Parts: sequence; structure tokens; C-alpha cells
Amino acid sequence: MFSTVKTRAYANIALVKYWGKQTTGINCPATPSLSLAVDALMTETEIRRSRRDGLVYNGATVTDISEIRIFKIIRDWKNRGLLEGHFLVDTRNGFPSGAGLASSASGVAALTAGLNRLTETALDDETLNRLTRQGSGSAARSLTGGLSVLPDDADPWARQIIPPEDVPWCIVAAVTDLHSKKVGSRQAMEICRETSPYYDDWIKTARRDFAEMLEAVDRRDFSHVGEITERNCLAMHACMWAARPALMYWNETTVKIIRAVKSWRDDGLEAYFTIDAGPQVCLLTGRDRAEYIAEKVRELPGVKQVLIGYPAGGAEVVSCT
Ligand code: PMV
Repeated sequence: MFSTVKTRAYANIALVKYWGKQTTGINCPATPSLSLAVDALMTETEIRRSRRDGLVYNGATVTDISEIRIFKIIRDWKNRGLLEGHFLVDTRNGFPSGAGLASSASGVAALTAGLNRLTETALDDETLNRLTRQGSGSAARSLTGGLSVLPDDADPWARQIIPPEDVPWCIVAAVTDLHSKKVGSRQAMEICRETSPYYDDWIKTARRDFAEMLEAVDRRDFSHVGEITERNCLAMHACMWAARPALMYWNETTVKIIRAVKSWRDDGLEAYFTIDAGPQVCLLTGRDRAEYIAEKVRELPGVKQVLIGYPAGGAEVVSCT
């Protein structure tokens, strides 16, 4: 039996968003989603058997771990009879955490990939993916990496549809605010479902976008992929803006980047934006244009940090002893 395991996982950026949960099942998405895992958004995690539970998060010791998601997941694995004992978890994100750059996806995927190595009998891919999804929907897609889909059927699991080396696109992520967001996605999705007059239309729109996206991806039709990416993101945010209270994650710089991207496109430079539940903007571009686009984004006032994320694989075990 192993006592220490080190893992690595990459956050993913959804081009068709998971936003909203089914009312039955454990954390089942109400919309099908499709995303790209990228190497710049990496989480590294070490899990070590110990006499007591403990957490080091981004280099700092966390004193009260009772409500921390990592330990809720570990408790769940114990309740299922998959694990025993106590664990010291040391996890680090190489990018801003909790600010809408999908750190929960890479964090949860790095955790469950490691826990699976510490179990007596490792789970099969499908079961591990479902358990991961229960901890965080988008984490199921980080587990598989590359271009992955997570369907909206009962108890779904994610699967990779294109391996990273075959994806011709990448992501330029523009950080516009380094602080953690105030309303987490779990709570925000519930507010949307309960109060947004556009919620039902959002679900229908997302399902249509997903079907169209699969075809566009299959043809590697970048312009069409980009167009669906933008309209899907805007439809999700329209649903959020119409909620009570309104969920407005954007800031002035978010809007500036949207406008800049549109004007660059008018000049023949192709990039498309998408925005998760936060103020950061991710641009989908061709691999060959990423450096140039990143330079242009860096010049925009208000942009705090720019990361170029090339397609990455799924969660991996780096070592175990
Ligand atoms: O998996 P969660 O609970 O962090 O929710 C993800 C929500 C979005 O990032 C906005 C969309 C997505 O599909 O990743």
C-alpha cells in the first residue's frame, strides 16, 4: 500500500458551459459541456498518510479544515469504504485560485487521482470520474483532459474527445482581478435556477450549442467553434444578470477585453472570448497566434496578468511511494 502520492492536474476552460444542476442525483449538470484543459493552469498535490488530517494550501497551513471541500471529499471516500486513516494534503495552484480560472476543477481532479492511488483496489475510469464529478462538475473534465465533454444525462461521466496534441487551439487567459470571487458557482447556479427568468431558455440554448459545437469541433472549424463559444458564454451570463440578486462577475477591464477582441477580429486577427463565473477573460486562439494575442492583451489597461495555456492532458500521478 502506498503512503505518499504526488499528482498533477490542469484546469479546463469550458467552450460550452456547465451552468445549473439537475434536481435529482448528486451534482448532475443540467447542461452538457465541452472544455479544453490547459497547461498554464496547473495544480500539484501531495497526499501523505498521517496520524492526523492537515492541509497546506498554496504554501499556507489551513487551521480549520472541517468545511474544506478536499476533506469533504476524503470523508465521502471513507464513508464508501474506499479509504481509511488520516491524510496530510499539500496542494498548490500555479495560477490565481478561486477567481474564476477553474482552480476547483484542477484541484479536485488532482485530489481524486491521488486518492485513487491510495485505495486498496483502484476504481475503474468511469467510477472514478463519476465520484470526481460529485466533488466538482468541471473537475470530471480535468480528470480526462484534452478536449473533453461532460453530458447532461443521469449520473454522467466525462470523456476525452480529442487528445491535447491534436487540438489546434489554445487559451490566452487575461486576469483582471486577483481576488477570490464572492459568490461561488454552486450557490450562483442555485440562485439562477430559482430566480432567473431566463434559466429554462439557457438550458435549451446550451443543449443546442453543445450539439452544434460537437459538429464544429469534428470539422476543426475554428470560426464556428469560436462563434459558439462566445454566444454560449453570453447566454450564460445573461441568465446570471437576470437572476435576483443579479450575478455580475465582470468588471470594466472584462468589457474592455471583449470590445478589443471584437475589433481585432474586424482587422482579421481571429480570437474568441469566454468568461466563467469571474471577471477573467479567456481567449480561444490558434496555437500559432497565441504569443501575438497575449502581447496585445498585456497592453490593455487594467490587465493584471496574462497566461498562455496550451492543450494539456488529464490528471496524472507523478510519483508514489
Ligand atoms: O464545476 P464548478 O462547480 O466549479 O462549476 C463550473 C462552472 C463554470 O466554470 C462557469 C462553467 C464550466 O463548465 O466550467
